[in-house]
Amino acid sequence: MTVTSIQYENWRNIAAARVEFSPGINVLWGMNAQGKSNILEGIYFFARGRSFRGAREKELVRFGEAFARASLSFRREGYGSDTVLEAVLPAAGKKKLSRNGAPLSSSAEMLGSFRAVLFTPANLSAVTGGPAERRTFLDIALSQISADYLSWLRRYTKLLAERNALIRQAGDGERVTSAEWEVYAEGLAECGAWIAAYRQDYVFLLSRAVERYFAGMTGGAETPALDYRSHALPGGEEADSVKPLSEPGGGKRPDPGPLYGRMTAGLEREIAAGSSLWGIHKDDVLLTLNGREARTYASQGQQRSFVLSMKLGEAEIARTVGGEYPAVLLDDVFSELDENRRRYILDALAEDGDGSRQIIITSCEPDVIPGARASRVRFHRVEDGRVTESGR
Ligand SMILES: Nc1ncnc2c1ncn2[C@@H]1O[C@H](COP(=O)(O)OP(=O)(O)O)[C@@H](O)[C@H]1O
Ligand SMILES: [Mg+2]
Repeated sequence: MTVTSIQYENWRNIAAARVEFSPGINVLWGMNAQGKSNILEGIYFFARGRSFRGAREKELVRFGEAFARASLSFRREGYGSDTVLEAVLPAAGKKKLSRNGAPLSSSAEMLGSFRAVLFTPANLSAVTGGPAERRTFLDIALSQISADYLSWLRRYTKLLAERNALIRQAGDGERVTSAEWEVYAEGLAECGAWIAAYRQDYVFLLSRAVERYFAGMTGGAETPALDYRSHALPGGEEADSVKPLSEPGGGKRPDPGPLYGRMTAGLEREIAAGSSLWGIHKDDVLLTLNGREARTYASQGQQRSFVLSMKLGEAEIARTVGGEYPAVLLDDVFSELDENRRRYILDALAEDGDGSRQIIITSCEPDVIPGARASRVRFHRVEDGRVTESGR
């Protein structure tokens, strides 16, 4: 998957720009606050359906303007022509999305079309932060490679909000019939079981990739492990004998029993607490190094290598499951790494490729690419929202 070009109009601090990218390595460089991350935010918008910085759509509109527009051309492996995704975000009102000129009804319809893996310093929180950060990691990765996963997740989220409202009503003394509780327990247990099956398979693939990348990066003295934890799994279940994600849970309909049982047995406690206490919205992935939790025991350097391995794993799984290597976007992380790790990343990303795997890097300095690869890099200078192709 290769970004050919992106065009902006009133996007953040970019009044108007068109940026062309090469397959292989691209570097966007310039001083702070010039618009480098804004450019990546625009590219990744088409993979994720929203800003990676958590900005609302109207915040992406250039100050004082009526709308922002971004238009991304990308090329899929083996396809002769580009696909064009366009987003028009008004300062007030609904966004408009289109693919090759045909309107799309929602972000969900757009997801999965253009695939990218983004790595920013904030991703460190997947290791250092709470369970929600790790669930987000899984949701972002899985939503891009499985439309079914995304639709289970949306159904689950909607049912959960409705059930939480019901729990609050019951807490206020309103009568809720057992038939009503039943509808939600069944619905959530079914959606939850599917989501857990996908997540379990994903974590299994990810843990194998992380083991390999982490060893490659650090010399293999410590062994990392990822262990998926969910109320939707029977107690104590290990993630073994898992088939790839095209058939989550090995192709069988996953068992809604464990979550259903927990939800129905714990209803009184939930009413007292005022929210749903059991479900995949409480899932976590335990990350360990040599059996000790990485969040508390690993050094900062090890935590970084861990999350870096997870990101490389995310890209690799996107290829094995999604059929094609995604575009890799590195915002501000590359220049922070020592030269060995930089080399390692470029080697890992280039692995068994024909050199066409695309990496788009932002950096304050142009000279971030070590070794012989530096001669084949495409450089863009970013200055006050303007982008110019530069020697370096
Ligand atoms: N909606 C907006 N309209 C105009 N400028 C904006 C908007 N949002 C952010 N900016 C500006 O964009 C700049 C930050 O750009 P960014 O891409 O984050 O910088 P960097 O090059 O350091 O990655 C800041 O100067 C900020 O004021
Ligand atoms: Mg930035």
